[in-house]
Amino acid sequence: MYADRLPLIYGTAWKKEDTKDLVIKAVKAGFRGIDTACQPKHYNEAGVGEALVFLEKEGIKREDLFLQTKFTLLEGQDPLNVPYDKKAELNVQVLQSFEVSKTNLQTNYVDSLILHSPPTDFNDLEIVWRAMEEIAIRGEAKELGISNIYDIDILECLYEMAEIKPTVVQNRFHKENSFDKEIRSFCTTNNIIYQGFWTLTANVDILQSIELFELATKYDKNVIQVFFAYLNQIGIVPLTGTSDIEHMKSDLDSFHIILEESELSRLNSLLE
Ligand SMILES: NC(=O)c1ccc[n+]([C@@H]2O[C@H](COP(=O)([O-])OP(=O)(O)OC[C@H]3O[C@@H](n4cnc5c(N)ncnc54)[C@H](OP(=O)(O)O)[C@@H]3O)[C@@H](O)[C@H]2O)c1
Repeated sequence: MYADRLPLIYGTAWKKEDTKDLVIKAVKAGFRGIDTACQPKHYNEAGVGEALVFLEKEGIKREDLFLQTKFTLLEGQDPLNVPYDKKAELNVQVLQSFEVSKTNLQTNYVDSLILHSPPTDFNDLEIVWRAMEEIAIRGEAKELGISNIYDIDILECLYEMAEIKPTVVQNRFHKENSFDKEIRSFCTTNNIIYQGFWTLTANVDILQSIELFELATKYDKNVIQVFFAYLNQIGIVPLTGTSDIEHMKSDLDSFHIILEESELSRLNSLLE
């Protein structure tokens, strides 16, 4: 498990032609986890690969980084730019997508391969998962995970069915899904790392709360730093896709804060 050494992951969605440059900046700032996807509609996966090659020449080795990509179903792809044969069987699509990922990322393995969102039919989910397991058995994906899984029953069924269990869940973290309490509890019980996105963009009320403001004053940090520290202390690895170098540095500087039990309880009340 990598969670202890990876408090925050750098997300690369929507960066287009700036992807290479921003990934290099993020890694040089101190990020060691990078999230991408084989989904050209939102991610420039090849730009991440170019950054990795550049960084390797600068002495930052592939094995020093946690690299995560995703398989995205056809319905999540731009129909004019699908990175696999859209007429192929589902399991073949997974394998083809992963070959494209390896080429884009210029690597022969990823640390984590996640399913971008579950298909509606559980049989299809099993087909996709078995193909992902094939990749993991070959040693080309060290861990498997799933994203946008908001139905606890489906997560439980997946966990039951899987030969290689998911160790990552990547979900929206916001009030509209009750901060994913049930899913997070399942993750804690089953040693699954919960990665949260939308942590800043969908939690404006929390970021403006008096509770965070007072703690930021006490610890001489900003509210985002206190929020990230809090999220880590309750078992969440946030993703951040900031394009701002100062934000990168300040986000990484969040984790020296160790909130006291009473402070955690106070912040927990914001998730009620
Ligand atoms: N699995 C999925 O379906 C899915 C969906 C969405 C996202 N993701 C992943 O999650 C990553 C993060 O996406 P997100 O939707 O959570 O939002 P985000 O892209 O990280 O956006 C954060 C926003 O907050 C701003 N910001 C202000 N101060 C900041 C600070 N100190 N630190 C960081 N940001 C600050 C950023 O602006 P500045 O650039 O100016 O800092 C940016 O506009 C994505 O890149 C992607 O990897 C996954």
